[in-house]
Amino acid sequence: ELKDNTIIVVLGASGDLAKKKTLPALFGLYRQGFLPRDVKIVGYARTKMDRDEFHKRATSYIKNPDNDPEIATSIQHFKDLSTYISGSYEDGAAFDTLNEHLEEIESHYQSKECNRIFYFALPPSVFVPVAKNLKEHCYVTKGGVNRVIVEKPFGKDLGSARELLSSLKQYWTEDETFRIDHYLGKEMVKNLLVLRFANVALGAAWDKNSVSNVQITFKEPFGTEGRGGYFDEFGIIRDVLQNHLLQVLSVLAMERPVSFAAEDIRDEKVKVLRCIPPIERDDTLLGQYVAANGKPGYLDDETVPPTSSCPTFAATTLWIHNPRWEGVPFILKAGKALNEAKVEVRIQFKDVTQGIFKDIARNELVIRIQPSEAVYLKLNAKTPGLYTRAIPTEMDLTYKRRFTESRIPEAYEALILDALKGDHSNFVRHDELDVAWKIFTPILHWIDGQNGPRPRPVNYPYGSRGPKELEAFITKYGYKRSGEA
Ligand code: BG6
Repeated sequence: ELKDNTIIVVLGASGDLAKKKTLPALFGLYRQGFLPRDVKIVGYARTKMDRDEFHKRATSYIKNPDNDPEIATSIQHFKDLSTYISGSYEDGAAFDTLNEHLEEIESHYQSKECNRIFYFALPPSVFVPVAKNLKEHCYVTKGGVNRVIVEKPFGKDLGSARELLSSLKQYWTEDETFRIDHYLGKEMVKNLLVLRFANVALGAAWDKNSVSNVQITFKEPFGTEGRGGYFDEFGIIRDVLQNHLLQVLSVLAMERPVSFAAEDIRDEKVKVLRCIPPIERDDTLLGQYVAANGKPGYLDDETVPPTSSCPTFAATTLWIHNPRWEGVPFILKAGKALNEAKVEVRIQFKDVTQGIFKDIARNELVIRIQPSEAVYLKLNAKTPGLYTRAIPTEMDLTYKRRFTESRIPEAYEALILDALKGDHSNFVRHDELDVAWKIFTPILHWIDGQNGPRPRPVNYPYGSRGPKELEAFITKYGYKRSGEA
């Protein structure tokens, strides 16, 4: 673990990700005492601004709604340890200037062993030049560690991802690289390992003998507003399914790792992903939102080409060919501009053997990742009274009721802390990325129109539950609404 003499450099410090996620997460860690002693934070980006302006932006998303003086003091201290340098991403000389700044900071440290953590909050077009320039101009060699934290998009398909990875590998080793998928930092995703492997009762039902189908659902109530340019190039599958939802699936479906060691966990994730063949067109439903309820449609977004066929909703079913899961559909669904914000895993168990009961609801285990983290199990109980009738009810573990004293950490806080500790467990390994792209590349090439006309997504109204075809889609894979026979 890095205890002191550490500089965290946020590249792309003037951008949205840094402002909304990276810098607030660093502040959260700082405030809770999790950053190394003597830590310094350096912002770097092209935008020219002075330190005050940077501080204003860097703290604009830090919450202090009640003007708590203690938080205000922490914010001030956080500003004091943060500086900003502007410069190009392509020009080596600019990185010499950054390096001089880092050396200046380090000259005040007691020991000469210094650590540099580089966080890429950058557009993908500059990943490679920045990786190169950092290695050539800002890499400490006198002891201490250098690490890079990078975030998707890691390419657009298998070929481009491989190309990107091999370019980055020239400069940064796998050990120095931390590939973020922020869903792996979410409390309820981390909880999956405990739920599954620390509970005999759940573990015993975790297979094709008990499970009928699994749904992993991501819903957002807003469209691409302002991000249409980026989004149109990527689409919902690359934006959410291929990374976030597939990561959830891999932790949900993998075998028990030999230990908590990062490579043991990642080995199991890769193994289960390798059992999944590429997605079939017939197992896929694509949607695009249209204007409704006073909200604009996707194509009304000025940053989107007027005839775009880019899906803003996708449901797709994956099959895991191994002894545990053969025949169990894993349905991944994600959409923008839907009726609510919700991310959840829903495991629906098989029907109880018919005989003494008829029309009995199926058990379901729901893990709500957000909002309002919860685990609940739908089960049948006898209706209280002088007769025997079963009704569906639930055992409910809603976190804010059960763990009233605990604060649920932000995903980025958890992950940055892991990167500081050098723990790769919740970061994506290169071979994991490769197998993830193998599953999704053929369907993405079809959607992109690489081997024929582009498929046209079905429309759904802004603010709705998604395309009207969705109900039939999930029913096809055996999902039954509670109470349906
Ligand atoms: C990002 C996607 O990776 O995840 C966004 O690019 C999406 O489109 C976001 O909104 C969702 O993250 P969270 O943590 O808000 O669920």
